[in-house]
Amino acid sequence: MNTQPLVAFLRRQLDKRKIVCVVRTKELDNYAFNSSYTILAYQLLASDDVRGKAYRNVINKVVRGRKVVDVGTGGLAYMARMCREAGASIVHAIEYNEKFRDSIEASIATTRSEDCPIKVYYGFSTDINLPESCDVLLQQVIGTISSNEGVARTVKDAKRFLNPGAVFIPAACGTYVCPTSPLERKWSHKIVNLLVGGTNTIEPLRMHEVLHFPTSNLMAEPGEMEMFVFSEDYPLVFDRKLEFRMDRDGLVDGLVFYMQIVVDRDNVVSSRGENVAWPNPYLKLFDTPVRVAKGDVMSVDIHVDLATIQPSYGVEVSLSSTPEGRTCRAAHRWAGAGK
Ligand SMILES: C[S@@+](CC[C@H](N)C(=O)[O-])C[C@H]1O[C@@H](n2cnc3c(N)ncnc32)[C@H](O)[C@@H]1O
Repeated sequence: MNTQPLVAFLRRQLDKRKIVCVVRTKELDNYAFNSSYTILAYQLLASDDVRGKAYRNVINKVVRGRKVVDVGTGGLAYMARMCREAGASIVHAIEYNEKFRDSIEASIATTRSEDCPIKVYYGFSTDINLPESCDVLLQQVIGTISSNEGVARTVKDAKRFLNPGAVFIPAACGTYVCPTSPLERKWSHKIVNLLVGGTNTIEPLRMHEVLHFPTSNLMAEPGEMEMFVFSEDYPLVFDRKLEFRMDRDGLVDGLVFYMQIVVDRDNVVSSRGENVAWPNPYLKLFDTPVRVAKGDVMSVDIHVDLATIQPSYGVEVSLSSTPEGRTCRAAHRWAGAGK
């Protein structure tokens, strides 16, 4: 039975009502995270119309007559099939999960084409060699913090698959961070959240992932935590120092993150308030929310290490509160990804 329409329908109901769903983040390394994929997860991704449209627009513009390498093709070979439909000459599709071999083959068979073979290689891309160089690097191994599924290290390595002047789809991706007021939810949302396997208890100094995090909670202009322009070189270990000025009086209890994918200049996907497959990581820093006045400053020192299959992150936060007449500090380190 094809369950894709049912999955898409249920997802649309959550999106239409902006139901706030919360899960505690698992700290999985890239191998364990990839192993945790299910057919349902691929179906949810395929029902994300914002993401699908942006990628399809760019694939249709770029791949005709070109050789494509699709890193992380997933259990439905979703974007490899888009490339075939758009007239690519060949797609070399790499997927970590061999357990989806049958589903990948069945999906590819739905778009049979004499002109564009889709060749599938099983394993982590850093362990794979291709028989020829490609003109396009396609991937969507981008996490809720864009780098937490390994995209920075994976693309850096995958450049060895490419001819000079190759095109990257997406062109870039990044993550933004922002101080937030406490997350409050209606009872009806909490009940739905429990029904879909979420948690209603948000623990301080633990990462959570929140679907439909309200953008009205953002207390300042978000700051750029990381940005990878794939055609350029970039470091895998770096520090960022950000300063946020509160744009109104209110309460602050933590940080929220959102990712952005620049598929190309005209097609940008963001998890800031849009109905997309990516929830927002939420880190509650202060058990008791801190009262702030407009203009109060939060400083955030960020450390990012993407050199291994276990991306890791650290934040040190200092918040000067005028109403409380004190500076509140908190720090947290975490690693990996996983919902
Ligand atoms: C977010 S899903 C995207 C699937 C598909 N491309 C799509 O857009 O629907 C990421 C997929 O990439 C795979 N993956 C992630 N990193 C990989 C890597 N470095 N090498 C091979 N597969 C990878 C995961 O197992 C997963 O199936």
